[in-house]
Amino acid sequence: SPAPELAGLRVLISAGPTYEDIDPVRYVGNRSSGKMGYALAAAAARLGASVVLVSGPVHLATPAGVERIDVRSAAQMRQAVLGALPADIYIGAAAVSDYTPRQVAPQKLKKNADSQSLVVELVRTPDILAEVATQTQALKLVVGFAAETHDVEKYARGKLVDKRLDLVIANQVGQGTGGFESDDNAATAYWQDGEQVFPATSKIELAGQLLALIAQRLKA
Ligand code: C5P
Repeated sequence: SPAPELAGLRVLISAGPTYEDIDPVRYVGNRSSGKMGYALAAAAARLGASVVLVSGPVHLATPAGVERIDVRSAAQMRQAVLGALPADIYIGAAAVSDYTPRQVAPQKLKKNADSQSLVVELVRTPDILAEVATQTQALKLVVGFAAETHDVEKYARGKLVDKRLDLVIANQVGQGTGGFESDDNAATAYWQDGEQVFPATSKIELAGQLLALIAQRLKA
């Protein structure tokens, strides 16, 4: 039988949310379940790739044959991703927090009897995907995700150019079906001179279809 499609390739995938600590007991997070990234890791391993999965906090089992590195914050995810390079393919499926508290309070913040409000100052996190895309060493394909509530194609194509990606997988979120937390997802993939629509299906099935496209783009 022929060698599997991704045999001999190292695939690095980020998945899940990041948690940005405010104090020892609270954090800023998001609703990513990690299911899409984990399904992609499983699919890549099935296609014969050597897979490293850098994962934010999720409640999922490590897929068979996948090396998993657990992280919590965007800063830790950046460290782990850069440390796991070089790779042939990078898939940024994590919902990395765009902002993190300027400082982590060393002790639990207490309610202030004199004030009904609390201001937590947030600062931008590093864009891991954009940084990886500048590391040309060995990288053959850099894939990003775009979860958008509106103007999906406009923002997806914008990311393709701005972050210098080879492929953007876009999906509409906030409409009740698919996306965050769901077992199902629909997506449209965009690359410089093409696009492909993936109708709603399970994330497991979609991951297999996306990996087939990734293998195809690799040859293009
Ligand atoms: O710009 P936006 O956050 O919408 O882009 C989403 C894509 O960028 C995803 O692939 C996500 O994993 C990646 N990203 C990242 N680091 C960030 C923010 C997003 O790698 N700080």
